[in-house]
Amino acid sequence: MTAASPVLGIETSCDETGVAVFLPGRGLLAHALYSQVALHADYGGVVPELASRDHIRKLAPLVRQVLAEAGIAGGDLAAVAYTAGPGLIGALLVGAAVASGLAAGWSVPRVAVHHMEGHLLAPLMEADPPAFPFVALLVSGGHTLLVDVQGVGRYRLLGDTRDDAVGEAFDKTAKLLGLGYPGGPALARLADRGGPSDYHFPRPMTRRPGLDFSFSGLKTAVMDALRARRPDSAERADVAWAFQEAVVDTLTIKCRRALEATGYGRLIVAGGVGANRRLRERLNAEVGGLGGTVHYPRPEFCTDNGAMIAHAGALRLSEGVLGATELEARARWSLDELRPPAAA
Ligand code: KG4
Ligand code: ZN
Repeated sequence: MTAASPVLGIETSCDETGVAVFLPGRGLLAHALYSQVALHADYGGVVPELASRDHIRKLAPLVRQVLAEAGIAGGDLAAVAYTAGPGLIGALLVGAAVASGLAAGWSVPRVAVHHMEGHLLAPLMEADPPAFPFVALLVSGGHTLLVDVQGVGRYRLLGDTRDDAVGEAFDKTAKLLGLGYPGGPALARLADRGGPSDYHFPRPMTRRPGLDFSFSGLKTAVMDALRARRPDSAERADVAWAFQEAVVDTLTIKCRRALEATGYGRLIVAGGVGANRRLRERLNAEVGGLGGTVHYPRPEFCTDNGAMIAHAGALRLSEGVLGATELEARARWSLDELRPPAAA
């Protein structure tokens, strides 16, 4: 098979089962996503063992469905790409084992993909993709990263969170406000009904130089305000608004700094929190004011999905990476351990 054949992508790092087929030069041929949100909702968060079991149940039917939609057979593939980490180890192992079995059965290579690299490259699937180099802001439930991206696999970490990830801060604050799981979108909807008030929360680590983040104090500040003032439901919308403004302000300040530090004019934003409408408004205005541009995946590809894994796998494969010889699944895996495909 050549690099111009389609790549199957499998994502199972957390609570979404995502499968897709990406064809270099053409784009996405098919994709399907099964969300486990309803399964975990009663527990207020993802239960790892239930997640693994549900991936087992859903993965094979989704692969069959996506191949049928793309009109191809397994043997037509250039490779099977799968999320090898970071994430929940049991969930990752389901994807890794299924991908390995399929790849062996179809006699095609498999490509182990880093989940955050999938997010990071996702804006390149859209029309009018940004050229390298650019700054990437990766904001998900587990990560808050600023990355200097010079090419596929050429990543230099500029900033990281010292404690909670920004999506985690959204989820925990949503819980304090009595909202369901997952909290980020619910909090954003509540914030839409709120506005400026005398609730004001800190912009952590923005007064000193540097590109690192810290979000755990912000959640504590919301907790203290709720305890001290016991807001009614209208006021809770103002609390949500003030929290979201504090987060968005903090991210905007640091993105501006990262663009200034690198001298780049392009910013890409990916990961679940990248779906946040207010964040997009503010970043577009700020970076536009600097004469730069901001690029996002479409909202459905901000959160976890198989398309970004098929796409990242295809990019790596086209530059010469073949499947790893051992089955790979890593719960922890830093993005700056990755190397460009040619050097892998
Ligand atoms: O990338 P993702 O789907 O999964 C991880 O790799 O973590 O990101 C999920 C995170 C969750 O914390 C969720 O609450 C948050 O992204 N999120 C949002 C929004 N949509 C998802 N946070 C704020 N506003 C949103 N619209
Ligand atoms: Zn993710």
